[in-house]
Formats: sequence, structure tokens, C-alpha cells
Amino acid sequence: MELAKAKDYDEMSMKAAEVVFDKITGSDRLVLGLATGSTPEKMYEYLADKLNKSNVDLSHVYTVNLDEYVGLSPEDTQSYHYYMREIFFDKVNIPLENTKLPDGAAADLDAETSAYDAMIEDLGGVDLQVLGIGRNAHIAFNEPGTSFESGTHVVDLTETTIQDNARFFEKTEDVPTKAVSMGLGTIMNAKSILLLASGEGKKQALRNMIHGEITEDVPASILQRHPDVTVITDIEDIEL
Ligand code: PGA
Repeated sequence: MELAKAKDYDEMSMKAAEVVFDKITGSDRLVLGLATGSTPEKMYEYLADKLNKSNVDLSHVYTVNLDEYVGLSPEDTQSYHYYMREIFFDKVNIPLENTKLPDGAAADLDAETSAYDAMIEDLGGVDLQVLGIGRNAHIAFNEPGTSFESGTHVVDLTETTIQDNARFFEKTEDVPTKAVSMGLGTIMNAKSILLLASGEGKKQALRNMIHGEITEDVPASILQRHPDVTVITDIEDIEL
């Protein structure tokens, strides 16, 4: 595991954008795993800006997102489909057909989850996966207790996650209670991982991830077993 410190959220986002930019420009073909939430927002802003300024051709880039809420259509303004278009896809020239997210509105969610894993496999696997981390150390929507071997699956969101995400909705009752999420097994198959964590609220989760016991109670702790993880954080007193 590698650790890069940033002095604040802005610097963390800039450094993360540079890592992704270098990967994009240094590859002939790239499958990029993408995350949503507050943490990567500014990274996308910097990344779009850098890509556009350098006029980089992005036809070789494929993206697969970590998760989507169950029951929200891609047009729903609270969906992660919408988030990705607003924050990133509409600003860059990655062919839209190369951008994949789980369909949370699929009638047959079991079929959707296996099709999502098959699609990732067909693409040749994820080359670089961007991750945030939850206060309960979830990665994607893999809540504590999720099997380390899990593939893409339907998740019951925990109360902590629902409360944490309520800020994006008008009322807490509007937050979906289920999501489709890449599993921990799926994430571990990515060739490299870039995890971003910002703010004191994530400190304990990050410490547990880096130094704690590897246990399904701390989903992110599985990353200790991954051979190529880079953490970029603005949180003080985090060491490897
Ligand atoms: P956040 O979420 O970026 O909105 O804090 C991170 C996560 O829950 O993985």
C-alpha cells in the first residue's frame, strides 16, 4: 500500500486527478472503475479540465461504476447515472456507450448483477479502480459483514449509510434502502486501486483499513491484501 498526503481536499483532488490522467494518457486501452459520492467530486472537475485542456482522445477509455441505488432510473436526479453525467461524462469526450453503471431500475436485479460482472469480465477487468470509503469502512456499498468473495450484488443499506447519504435528498425517507453494488471480490480483482479519504470523519475507518484486523466487519480492510493500492488523504496522523 502507498500513502500520499495532501494538505486539504483540493490538493487531494488534484493529486488524484493527476494519477487518473497519467493512467489515461499512458494506456492504449483503459478500463477505469469510478466512484460517486462527495469525495471524488473535485477530482472529476480537475480531471475533466486537464483532459480538455490537453485535448486527449478518450475513445480508448471504458468506465464501470461501483454502484447505483435500487429503484432509481438513470434519469432520476438522485441516481448515480445522473451524478456521473452531470459531474463528468457530459464534460469529457468518453464515448457514452463506453460508460457503464449498474441498472438499479432493472426488473430482474439478480440477472442485472450477474450481467454486470460478466460485462466487467468481457472488458478484461478493471485496470484502475477509484474508491471512497464510508465512515463504517464500507467500499462501494459493501457494508460491514459483506463476504470478501462477493461479486456484484443487491445490498440493504445500513442506517449509518442512509443517514450519511440523506444530505443529498430532501428527506431521509427519500434515501433508497437498497443498492446494486460491485462486490468486494469484484473490487479486489482490479489491477490497481486509488482510494481517496477526506475529513476527520473518515479517520477511524481509514486507520482500521490500514492497520486493523482484516475482517469482514471492516470491508475496506481487505485492501491490505491487494498488491497495488494507493491512498490519497488530507487526514492528519495517518501513517502506513
Ligand atoms: P462520500 O462517500 O464520498 O460521500 O463521503 C464515500 C463512501 O461512502 O464510499
